[in-house]
Amino acid sequence: MKIGCPKEIKPQEFRVGMTPNAAGEAVAHGHEVIVETGAGRGAGFEDADYIAAGAHILDSADEIFAIADMIVKVKEPQAVERAMLREGQLLFTYLHLAPDPDQTRDLLASGCTAIAYETVTDAAGGLPLLAPMSEVAGKLAPQVGAWTLQKANGGRGVLMGGVPGVGPAKVAVIGGGVVGTHAARVAAGMGADVTVLDRSLPRMRYLDDVFGGVFKTSFASAGNTAELVAQADLVIGAVLIPGAAAPKLVTRAQLSTMKPGAAIVDVAIDQGGCFETSKATTHQDPIYEVDGIMHYCVANMPGAVARTSTIALGNATMPFLLALADKGWKQACTDDPHLLAGLNVHAGQLTNYAVGRALGIDVLSPSVIVKG
Ligand SMILES: NC(=O)c1ccc[n+]([C@@H]2O[C@H](COP(=O)([O-])OP(=O)(O)OC[C@H]3O[C@@H](n4cnc5c(N)ncnc54)[C@H](O)[C@@H]3O)[C@@H](O)[C@H]2O)c1
Repeated sequence: MKIGCPKEIKPQEFRVGMTPNAAGEAVAHGHEVIVETGAGRGAGFEDADYIAAGAHILDSADEIFAIADMIVKVKEPQAVERAMLREGQLLFTYLHLAPDPDQTRDLLASGCTAIAYETVTDAAGGLPLLAPMSEVAGKLAPQVGAWTLQKANGGRGVLMGGVPGVGPAKVAVIGGGVVGTHAARVAAGMGADVTVLDRSLPRMRYLDDVFGGVFKTSFASAGNTAELVAQADLVIGAVLIPGAAAPKLVTRAQLSTMKPGAAIVDVAIDQGGCFETSKATTHQDPIYEVDGIMHYCVANMPGAVARTSTIALGNATMPFLLALADKGWKQACTDDPHLLAGLNVHAGQLTNYAVGRALGIDVLSPSVIVKG
């Protein structure tokens, strides 16, 4: 199979769909890998690294889209990329179609087959191609929160770990899933006094078993949340209700109960955010203030650490990518129901029920499509 990896063109996106290691593995499996010149540079990979791995470098995305059987990317294809997709071509990337009718319409019109990273599942009921980015965003959250707390950035001027004789920052993490657990570990590692709030008792039992003594847990009732938010120097929002917008768990009125200069890092902003006052920001202009509280709401946090994120994503996508290339998408999806769950679009048909519900488009069952 000819596997094409174009350079990402979404603003502020420095990740790349394939690392030189991934390219090398695909070449070892007998595939041809074609990479757009400079595609890896944002993540610290030069063309020479891909050439050493056995890939070929092409000058433009047009050439790659014109000849590749499978396109491997990170972000959803932008309008100019969607115009280059062909009937029968396989697209493997993050799509997030539910809030994006324009992209969905274009993918359907292209006749391509699109497998979305974010809907691929695993045997434990998780989302293995989202988890690495949640791990990255979670570990980054206390780091950017600590920066936001600095006086020059409008923050309260509190050091996460304190110093001898001065207590540490208080950190409340709302949501104890992948993001929340990684955030809590790092915040606790910085010396902060950390409490994780969640509504799932099994999850809190797990956190207490594994991290008891490192950070505390609290049931995320409205009362407990309000109390811990009022006491916190830093609040990290990390909730997820699968398939739904994030619930607003902290109102604007509650900001007045918080300490002046306290910081909010709303990691759940990509699902609308869990603070009433959250609005998406960018890496170029990441923070803003509302009622004396500093907000950090960058929707693609992993892009800040593009190299780590690219390698982490590549580790997770690799087995699926190789299965798709080795067997073709139809056989690979027939053999693996978790990969089949990633199928969102095929030959003008929408194949994901959540996306269909969100956009009011008829859906054809993915299992019917692979049998057809
Ligand atoms: N901004 C970014 O760059 C970025 C990157 C990765 C993930 N995210 C987002 O971070 C969020 C968390 O992702 P995740 O992978 O950790 O999800 P997850 O499913 O692993 O964890 C979510 C947790 O939220 C808990 N929860 C749900 N409703 C709650 C409530 N009302 N109060 C308290 N807890 C509640 C769940 O029990 C679960 O433990 C998602 O919105 C995800 O899209 C953002």
